[in-house]
Amino acid sequence: MAVSFDEGTGIFTLSTKNTTYQMQADGYGYLLHLYYGRKTRGVMDWGLTFADRGFSGSPYDAGDDRTYSLDALPQEFPTQGTGDYRSTLLVVRDSHGTYGADLRYTGHEITEGKYSLAGLPAVYANPNEESQTLTITLKNERLGLTVSLLYGVIPGKDIITRSAIVRNDGQDPITLHKLGSACLDFTHGRFDVITFCGRHTGERQLNRQALTHGVYSVGSRRGMSSHQYNPFVVLADRDTSETHGRCWGMQFVYSGGFFAEAEHDQYSQTRLTMGLAQEKFAYDLGAGEEVIAPEVIMSFSSEGLEKLSHNYHACIRENVCRGKFKHSPRPIVINTWEALYLEFSGKNILDVAESGKALGVDMLVLDDGWFMNRNDDARALGDWTADEGKLGCSLPELVSRVNALGLKFGLWVEPEMISEESNLFRKHPDWAMIVPHERPVLGRNQLVLDLSNREVREYIYFAISGLLSQSNIEYLKWDFNRSIASVYSHASDTQGRVLYDYVKGLYEILERLTRNYPDVLIEGCAGGGGRFDAGMLYYTPQIWCSDNTDALDRLHIHYGTSFGYPAGVIAAHVSTCPNHQTGRITPLRTRYVVSCYGAFGYELNPFRLTDEERREISTQIEEYRSDREIIAEGLYYRLSSPQSDNYCAWEYVSPDGSKALINAVIPHNHGNAPVVYVTPRGLTPGSLYRDKWSGEIYPADALMDSGFPLKMPRGDYESYTFRLDRL
Ligand code: GLA
Repeated sequence: MAVSFDEGTGIFTLSTKNTTYQMQADGYGYLLHLYYGRKTRGVMDWGLTFADRGFSGSPYDAGDDRTYSLDALPQEFPTQGTGDYRSTLLVVRDSHGTYGADLRYTGHEITEGKYSLAGLPAVYANPNEESQTLTITLKNERLGLTVSLLYGVIPGKDIITRSAIVRNDGQDPITLHKLGSACLDFTHGRFDVITFCGRHTGERQLNRQALTHGVYSVGSRRGMSSHQYNPFVVLADRDTSETHGRCWGMQFVYSGGFFAEAEHDQYSQTRLTMGLAQEKFAYDLGAGEEVIAPEVIMSFSSEGLEKLSHNYHACIRENVCRGKFKHSPRPIVINTWEALYLEFSGKNILDVAESGKALGVDMLVLDDGWFMNRNDDARALGDWTADEGKLGCSLPELVSRVNALGLKFGLWVEPEMISEESNLFRKHPDWAMIVPHERPVLGRNQLVLDLSNREVREYIYFAISGLLSQSNIEYLKWDFNRSIASVYSHASDTQGRVLYDYVKGLYEILERLTRNYPDVLIEGCAGGGGRFDAGMLYYTPQIWCSDNTDALDRLHIHYGTSFGYPAGVIAAHVSTCPNHQTGRITPLRTRYVVSCYGAFGYELNPFRLTDEERREISTQIEEYRSDREIIAEGLYYRLSSPQSDNYCAWEYVSPDGSKALINAVIPHNHGNAPVVYVTPRGLTPGSLYRDKWSGEIYPADALMDSGFPLKMPRGDYESYTFRLDRL
């Protein structure tokens, strides 16, 4: 049984293949956290300690027992106003302005299968995959507040998910000022906190630092999960490495603002929490209303970060991504953005398509610039009508012509946006999020549509479905090119829920589109990787990783991204040199080696290629086709850190261990430098492997023990590929 309950002690145990999670509804009705770690038998309530703590108060019902304090005890759903002064998950204000809610356990239910969440993405269990749900009910009588804590357990994947449904069962309205989804309390330990920080064109750079007293907090106040901090965080023992030590992850299945806080408290205890961003959040709950805290995916590894990543990779790949494209090979694309930007004609597009076809790609993606008046990026968003003058024909006709060349057709859209210079804005200025009597903050000269408004959602759905039903469009690149700053809905009288309702509105549109157009592959994008999260991956099984296509910068971006997300969902393209973001010139081979992730393609003008480059690209495409299954479905190993090693190497191993693909880049060459050795992992011990390219035969054990040498580089940015087959 994945979930069990002991009536006598009030102890709940969640069991997965390699982990155990335990909590207890104690005699006062508080839900205390007991354990999350290596799989174990027994009851861990002996881990709780009680002492008379000055300035840490006790609940009234504890009477003279001053040793019981919620300020010191590990909890599951800490709530503000209970004498716990640490970061909490819930802040409630009643209609008189009084804060706080003392929540007590009233009951629970254990059900087969993994719960789903109305209107929000959530991990699902596959047919025949064991899963269970535990729902624990907490109540506060004064407010008539009911909180249902949801725990989903997928034992085979070492995954435990959390969410909470907060319902106002009272007579009077209440307002939630903070709503978190998951809390992990540790009574002792010295930890590092690992986050993935960045910026536009520099997303998800690994940041690891020791947690000391105070609160280390990351998050997004931008209405999107953001380029700046990814909603995936890890807490690890100080000595945890790739292959050794304990670590715990939290990943938010949500694409809007979030917080993730790690607090080391006065008693040297640690609390990790994750939930909805507090900024501009004041969720009014009228009598009978409820709100859902988005899901957090938790996992634990006692074997280092690599195992933790493998758990998340499997979960995202198998239990988050959905639809026809979950396992099917993604098309190799040629994208027009870095090839032509906004300046093209229908003829240019067909020329690019034709040469793309000659190179061997599967699909042409027509990026920004195809719709009326879109000759620069300051106008026309919202008016999704093709510019037939510019294209030289209608969109359906262009699509047919591309199809006639033997290529599929993909289209860029940015449906959540509106330009002031657009027909849509002239007709519906109140559909843009603008605070009345304020001048809005512009981002790339555009405004954000109010997706909390049903009419706007209808408009977007029909605009996009109109495009899809008129032409044979088989792929959409769904972009989102600014952060949200002005939060106001003309359609709502409760502005504190607009950002949350916006994200739910986005999910509603995507759900409807994916349901009605199951054959269309949607790629997520937000100025590159500004919304690279598990929430989007539920609808868009691949995401454009970054607007930075420079091979060297991408090494760092892919490295950071790989901790929480599998290679199969990462979109990466080979672009031209000098690179448009950095001006760097790297070998074409290196650009390929760095870009061959799960959703691969080219983003360059094929007419500027030499014949030799053309030949090389055709070979790359063949190579990618033969390797893409292992890339998309294999186990991913980080063999070095580009932050601290003088080389970057990574590896994919097929699930049965019979094949391995090892890629490496030495960014900088030095005179008379020491030889770089790469040490692979995950090969079958006792076996021999042959490298497809050199013919060399390697014993797996020796390779995994002391590695093999890379040839001396001939210059900067040299890359290496090994394709090992087990003999
Ligand atoms: C964003 C995307 C790019 C490109 C442009 C088009 O920046 O990330 O790939 O589509 O928009 O305007």
